[in-house]
Amino acid sequence: MFNFYSTAGLIFGNETSLNSCSQIIDALGKNIFVVSDRGLTELGLIEPTIKKLKKNCNIKIFNDVESDPSKKTLLNAFSDAREFESTGVLGFGGGSSMDVAKLVSLLLGSNQQIETIWGVNNAKGPRLPLVLIPTTAGTGSEVTPISIITTDDKEKKGVSSKFILPDLAILDPLLTTNLPANITASTGIDAMVHAIEAFTSINSNNNPVSKMLSIEALKLLGSSIKTAVFDGHNINARSNMLLGSMLAGKAFANSPVAAVHALAYPIGGLFNISHGLSNSLVLTSVMKFNSKNEETKKNYAHLAPYVFKNLDNSKNDEFLCNNFIDGLERLCKELNLPYRLRDLEIPEEACKLMASEAMKQTRLLVNNPQKIEESDAYNIYKSVW
Ligand SMILES: [Fe+2]
Repeated sequence: MFNFYSTAGLIFGNETSLNSCSQIIDALGKNIFVVSDRGLTELGLIEPTIKKLKKNCNIKIFNDVESDPSKKTLLNAFSDAREFESTGVLGFGGGSSMDVAKLVSLLLGSNQQIETIWGVNNAKGPRLPLVLIPTTAGTGSEVTPISIITTDDKEKKGVSSKFILPDLAILDPLLTTNLPANITASTGIDAMVHAIEAFTSINSNNNPVSKMLSIEALKLLGSSIKTAVFDGHNINARSNMLLGSMLAGKAFANSPVAAVHALAYPIGGLFNISHGLSNSLVLTSVMKFNSKNEETKKNYAHLAPYVFKNLDNSKNDEFLCNNFIDGLERLCKELNLPYRLRDLEIPEEACKLMASEAMKQTRLLVNNPQKIEESDAYNIYKSVW
């Protein structure tokens, strides 16, 4: 038995796609609260969207969302949205903006207190109408029931509830063409991690739909990530990345991610390293650890040729698994992503603290195919230091 939930509506297309979803945009009501960040406001990316919406409604833009959004930011957004008497919420941006938008719509619609919503299925809804428009191809937040917030003591807390799946996700690859190369690279790797971890998750709800989506996501992401990074205006590559990250999002929304994410969170929380980069730093080291598990080795071997088309899939699992991990390591380097913690000014002593912080991510660690103890986490951090 398994269940599979996803975003009710999805529109994929260029900027004109907004015209074809006016009914759902209408459902946002007369006071639309837009959650975004300063970078997008400055790039002028929000304006075309707002102009299309502005005809018959009032708009308030909250553009204070930072990467790895804090609880303070969430509460500020919530308070602005309440004062504005918002009738609907539009998240416009990367995972951070979408995550904040989800919880603003939930807190406004449900009157639940924030401290009661953390964890799995503790958010009870309802929420206000919610539309999400991603401008990065990575988190897949537009199709996941998850929102991640950094609390005052630098801990990452998650809300996982079907009530925060949006009514509609609008995917427009043109919105991603100006994304800088380093962000394209790190968010793209994050999406690949979602697909890999969803496929290998030992969560009891791992299911054939998620597995199929993971494979399709890896085909799209693997074939396009380099082009998207080095030729950002290549619309085909951008389309594949946006489509791939959405498919990976749907996959892990129903077959949740595991130790790569659990070990990435302390790097992001303690040292302000972006989510995608935090993931890429520990990805292959965690995979090496996981591949001690025979079943996981088989799974990695199965996925390898979808990402690296030149791999001969008649070779044995050991060969394909090792080449998958080595290929991903090379890929991260080719994309110019930093690959050592020391290069990000993270002190060696921090490996101990990060290992103990990672152990708090029980929601994720339980899905990992190979049990990770604190000493294992420590060794993984040390190996990438
Ligand atoms: Fe992620």
